[in-house]
Amino acid sequence: MSDLSINYAKLKLKNPIIIGSSGLTDSVDKNKVWDRAGCGAIVLKSLFEEQIENESKTILKKYESPGNHDLIWNYVKGNKVMDYLNLIRGSKNYCSIPIIASINCYSDGSWIEFASQIESAGADALELNISAIVSDPAVHPMESSEKYINILKRIKDIISIPTIVKSSRLFNNIPWLVNQLKNNGADAVVLFNKLYQPDINIDTLKIISGSVFSSPQDLSETLRWLFLTSSNVTEIDLAASTGVNNWKDVIKCLLAGATAVQMVSALYQDKERKLIPEIIHRIEEWMDSRGFKSINDFKGKLNVEPAADKTVFERAQFMRYFSNHT
Ligand SMILES: Cc1cc2nc3c(=O)[nH]c(=O)nc-3n(C[C@H](O)[C@H](O)[C@H](O)COP(=O)(O)O)c2cc1C
Repeated sequence: MSDLSINYAKLKLKNPIIIGSSGLTDSVDKNKVWDRAGCGAIVLKSLFEEQIENESKTILKKYESPGNHDLIWNYVKGNKVMDYLNLIRGSKNYCSIPIIASINCYSDGSWIEFASQIESAGADALELNISAIVSDPAVHPMESSEKYINILKRIKDIISIPTIVKSSRLFNNIPWLVNQLKNNGADAVVLFNKLYQPDINIDTLKIISGSVFSSPQDLSETLRWLFLTSSNVTEIDLAASTGVNNWKDVIKCLLAGATAVQMVSALYQDKERKLIPEIIHRIEEWMDSRGFKSINDFKGKLNVEPAADKTVFERAQFMRYFSNHT
């Protein structure tokens, strides 16, 4: 019988399927259902940096005593942030699988101290969803990656639970970024987070929101960077996020070098909550049919040879791709 268990960000997971941070994981009751469905871990809905900062700032302003953390925490206790700590505690109490907390952040501000509360509440790990779209022509592109690294360093000074960084795909050299994150203590990197998808209504001439959900075509970009990153940067776990919709997608991500996958869009469509058990069952069948006993038997089997010239690889693929269409 095949063994689907993996080690991800120093956590032991019974299988590589993680419920990604979203409205699917914002209550203890929902998380109990995911636990029963058989997934490997849950990433809680993100708490936003602004929520922490705003609540802390209000109290600092009110009492004019910057640095008085007891006071801040007394205030914060009665507010939304406290609900988040309760979500962690409740999910830990009622679920048997690892619970990963998540913060959506864009700076290395004072909110970072809140991470120790997350650790004390019992989260098994912390995922940092760093939003960093830089569009200011005066700002050097390197500043976005420096931001990632600075946030990570400050968090690592405060907590000892595993730290995972969820990266944007808007970087030119993702293996470089992942390597820097690894060198600065990240235990895993998630490729990729989701950005706001703008669209335009040509009748009202207004900017509107595009679909919040991924499409199957989105997987290709995730696979590209899994291939190129996993072969170049070893000893760090990668989780695929964006475009993982079914059991075949999960296997593709593992073959491309992911340790785990995160799923969201497909699970929003799966009202009867049958998808997770089906995926697990189909992966077991696939592994058995090929004689793979563990995930490590095929993980990264198709990633790019470390010695290969990546430019040639990409160029060659590109030329072949277009020359097939005359
Ligand atoms: C409705 C919705 C809410 C989301 N909320 C969060 C969030 O709070 N924090 C976060 O890191 N990602 C959030 N995401 C992004 C997902 O975690 C995931 O990275 C993204 O949807 C790509 O995965 P998918 O293709 O499986 O949907 C959200 C996605 C959706 C669709």
